[in-house]
Amino acid sequence: MSTYVLDNASEQAARRFASLEACYDPVTIRQLGQVGVSPGWSCLEVGGGGGSIARWLAERVGPSGRVVVTDIDARWLDFKHPNIELREHNIATDELEWGAFDLVHERLVLIHLPERERALRRMIDALSPGGWILIEDFDCSWTALEPAGEPNDAALFVKVLGAFLEVLDQAGVDLAYGRHFHSLLHRQGLVDVHVEAHIDISSGGSPGFALFRANIEQLRDRLVDLGLVTNREIDRVYELFEDPEFSCNHQPLVSGRARRPLR
Ligand SMILES: C[S@@+](CC[C@H](N)C(=O)[O-])C[C@H]1O[C@@H](n2cnc3c(N)ncnc32)[C@H](O)[C@@H]1O
Repeated sequence: MSTYVLDNASEQAARRFASLEACYDPVTIRQLGQVGVSPGWSCLEVGGGGGSIARWLAERVGPSGRVVVTDIDARWLDFKHPNIELREHNIATDELEWGAFDLVHERLVLIHLPERERALRRMIDALSPGGWILIEDFDCSWTALEPAGEPNDAALFVKVLGAFLEVLDQAGVDLAYGRHFHSLLHRQGLVDVHVEAHIDISSGGSPGFALFRANIEQLRDRLVDLGLVTNREIDRVYELFEDPEFSCNHQPLVSGRARRPLR
């Protein structure tokens, strides 16, 4: 049974994926370029969500390569590419080919999984010798949210986003996961470890704020039922999500890449 709280069955999932793609695909694609993804590579995209990165990989590896894209709930994934294979699949438990992939990538999947250590080990075991892993997750512990706006609005924004993070924390999300990428990757015996972070700064009406909106909307009832925030406070924050004069940093998205030694 999955404990994933932002499940893909909700109507907010499509907006979440569109926002993630707009905010973070350029970051991920730059990382994949640095890894050197090339024609003929065999790639595994874990928790593919809306599928944009799998599509990019399929174009890059071409007809002589292949992309296996997995998700525990694949309802938003739909591909025309003959070199993409789609699997409804739990990365923590389901069957996987070992030693088969030149690249294994996940973005914002491991952070959610209580079995993230096992899932990461399985992703590494799926790499061919010399193959690359790229993992990308937020580190919400490193930088506070610091909105630029009228002080009462800024405080309310921090309160509502803080309530959202509290619910994720209670659900077993590791909000500081990205902080540990160096040690996680080194400890697994990988080489050429490189870790960097990207911080988006968004204003109302942008994809970044649409991401906040989709997430808060999906957990709204839970936030209110737990007494963390009121409906009125959430409604006011929805107005800020549309206000181009209100802005805020996002949590850093940490990208960590490393390769399996050749022997
Ligand atoms: C926050 S979304 C990120 C989607 C996409 N990777 C992106 O960054 O745009 C997390 C995705 O991971 C999937 N997921 C959650 N638990 C999973 C698991 N155990 N195995 C595979 N996918 C999982 C979810 O269904 C969802 O599509």
